[in-house]
Amino acid sequence: MKAEIGVIGLGVMGKSLSRNLARNGFNIAIYNRHVDGIEENVARNCQRDYAELENAQPFDDLKDFVQSMSSPRKIILMVNAGPAVDAVLNDLGNLLESGDVIIDGGNSHFEDTNRRIDSMKIKGLDFIGSGISGGEEGALKGPSIMPSGEKEAYSKVKKYLESISAKDADGNPCCTYIGSNGSGHFVKMIHNGIEYADMQLLAECYSILKGQNLSNDEIADVFESWCSDLGSYLLGITVDILREKEGDEYVLDQILDKAGNKGTGSWATIAIANSGEPATMIPAALFARYLSFFKELRESAAKAFSTQHNTNEIEIRQVKEAYQFSRIVNHHQGFSIIKQVSNQNDWNINLSEIARIWTAGCIIKSDFMKELVHYLKANDSILLNDSLNQTIRKTHSSIQSLITACIKNEIHIPCFFAALDFFHGIKTFNSSANLIQAQRDYFGAHTYQRRDDPTGKAHHTEWTNI
Ligand code: 6PG
Repeated sequence: MKAEIGVIGLGVMGKSLSRNLARNGFNIAIYNRHVDGIEENVARNCQRDYAELENAQPFDDLKDFVQSMSSPRKIILMVNAGPAVDAVLNDLGNLLESGDVIIDGGNSHFEDTNRRIDSMKIKGLDFIGSGISGGEEGALKGPSIMPSGEKEAYSKVKKYLESISAKDADGNPCCTYIGSNGSGHFVKMIHNGIEYADMQLLAECYSILKGQNLSNDEIADVFESWCSDLGSYLLGITVDILREKEGDEYVLDQILDKAGNKGTGSWATIAIANSGEPATMIPAALFARYLSFFKELRESAAKAFSTQHNTNEIEIRQVKEAYQFSRIVNHHQGFSIIKQVSNQNDWNINLSEIARIWTAGCIIKSDFMKELVHYLKANDSILLNDSLNQTIRKTHSSIQSLITACIKNEIHIPCFFAALDFFHGIKTFNSSANLIQAQRDYFGAHTYQRRDDPTGKAHHTEWTNI
């Protein structure tokens, strides 16, 4: 019996996704390359190890794998983003037939996806770029899925992706067609950016509370108490992490303070800069990770410049409210960049629908995301939502006080800073950008628009050089 869908790449995510497909009753083929002494019999071993893969057809020969599937073939690629995807596509291109569909489920760059859609099309193949979020557990039990490409191509694979995806509170799949080209991978990249900023905010809360001499368990208690009204996956796992022990020692205390990354935060930062959207928190979170990597310099600088502690007690309520405030700004910025780039590319992305597929299965799922589904139906800018507006007003003084205390205590809080400063910038009726325009016109005759000329015409002044 021919397989109806196949998975290439049986790493952590590919294996879990294959099991998910099998659990949903699909007849699948699984393939992993053979590398002497390194990757041998991976597909066969995978099938042997998991009961639900009993009927899956395992391969380490790509041609046999392709021939095991019924037409049009549907293949999910779960290989590392970058050259590995192109290498597999190159091999597949010679084996597949017109009308077959390839879905790239890795964290590929959206511009690579644009290029691959075009190059596969020349061969008569359909290519879907799909963001998949949820880590190992999500891939196994139901991830959030963000597919894009040609809509007709999507219709051939919709049933599979929807079946394996997480379900929202109403039982609808957390999988939706995002738009044309690489829009799915773009949206996933911004998902990761929001993830970076939320993780960094929680890390900043942790460092502030640690500075108040709370133990890891006490910090976990604080975070746990926030879960009733600020509940989220990331907050929940942070509680677990803070409590985890090896013998008498906290595991967290043994982890070296150098934060890694796999690139999506840096791509998001570049995309933000290219788009003209002032989404300041994602870059702040990315650069915080980069800064953490300078461990030796940090240690030397810590010795060279002694730290001034000027502790006026920081209230836990202020930390919570600062987090609440900043989380709103983070989501505002994340959805705004999606809107901006969607407009620039005619992707027509429905922001409320994006929030909906992020309510379950993904890393940034939260109770707040469920609220955003409704708010984004009414307005693309969540800052202007009445209810969030009230929360912002209520929490504004807390983040101001918190930041002041952090400055006095020399606590590094780049994401809190970015959130508050963005807020102050975005609510400045008359900004100082008139001076920037004058300076540009002075040294470069770059011209400026005038307040008293609504036509928007370019004006220039012959500035007096005193
Ligand atoms: C997800 C995650 C995942 C991401 C990792 C690692 O949605 O499941 O976003 O796709 O790759 O979290 O990202 P970094 O290594 O860059 O932190």
